Amino acid sequence: MAEFAVRPLDPTLPFGIRISELTRAMLDDQATREAIDQLFVEHGMIVFEDVEQSDEMQLAISNCFGPLKEHPVKSLTRVDSDRLPGVIELRTKPGVGIVEVDGKQVSHWLPWHFDHCYNDELNRAGVLRSVERVEEGGLTGFLDGIAAYKALPEDLRARIEGQDVLYTLSTQYDHLKFGRPERYKVIELKPITDAFKAQSASMSRAIHPAVWTRPTGEKVLHVSSYMAEGLVGQENAEGDALLEEVCQAIRSIAATASYHHKWRPQDMVIWDNTRMLHCVSGNNPEDSRLMYRTTIAGDYGLGRWETQGASDKALAAAM
Ligand SMILES: [Fe+2]
Repeated sequence: MAEFAVRPLDPTLPFGIRISELTRAMLDDQATREAIDQLFVEHGMIVFEDVEQSDEMQLAISNCFGPLKEHPVKSLTRVDSDRLPGVIELRTKPGVGIVEVDGKQVSHWLPWHFDHCYNDELNRAGVLRSVERVEEGGLTGFLDGIAAYKALPEDLRARIEGQDVLYTLSTQYDHLKFGRPERYKVIELKPITDAFKAQSASMSRAIHPAVWTRPTGEKVLHVSSYMAEGLVGQENAEGDALLEEVCQAIRSIAATASYHHKWRPQDMVIWDNTRMLHCVSGNNPEDSRLMYRTTIAGDYGLGRWETQGASDKALAAAM
């Protein structure tokens, strides 16, 4: 097996590693791919440093972790569906979708979340690379759900464990119901296409457990404040207060226990979507940013639709 270099992401954090000295040719070797996958299961996220920046390399890295999954939102731009199935563009255009967070106006800000929470099926992981970067901001933050579970106050942990959270496909800033920063103001809504609106209107709400246990035995706090609607069977003041308490606890744990990646042209990053939460710091509204993302299939099997038959509807909408 070819040798690559491994070091901790940040020696003060209990998750994540950095891999360097990895070439595309080395990824032809199955034992190398399996070793990288094993490290990923153990550490939850990997920053690949100084790797070849090409679609082929992004796919070769993605292939260590399983087959690609078609993204469930059909209105997102595909890079090249024939040659690069599953690679999507995440582009922020200047001057649209602006929020004021803690006194600073930014675009492309996202709160702590996991991807595809609005679907019954999650993706195992995503591989991101930056194609166009911003000078200031645009950081992607990561928080380990295993560490977050352990860091929750005991009483709150007991109250949230066993609860299920309802999510809906709603990306708009004024819909953010839980886990808002202390000072949060919507300045300008995001432009939303009719195709996106049609898809979101056709979908049932999805349900995911707030805490789940990995096959390796660790418990994971897995709550997305983005798109959260409430707790199953408790969509009332009491349930909302509990969910808000958890989302605010996540923000406060993240203040000291998260990693924020400043994108460099030579990086690619993968994170475990069933374990890690991630967020985006936002950037100067005049700047644009372009990321390419692959989506790796592999569900944890614990999500479901609120309404029976909704999965068929959503599947049809995603095709
Ligand atoms: Fe995300």
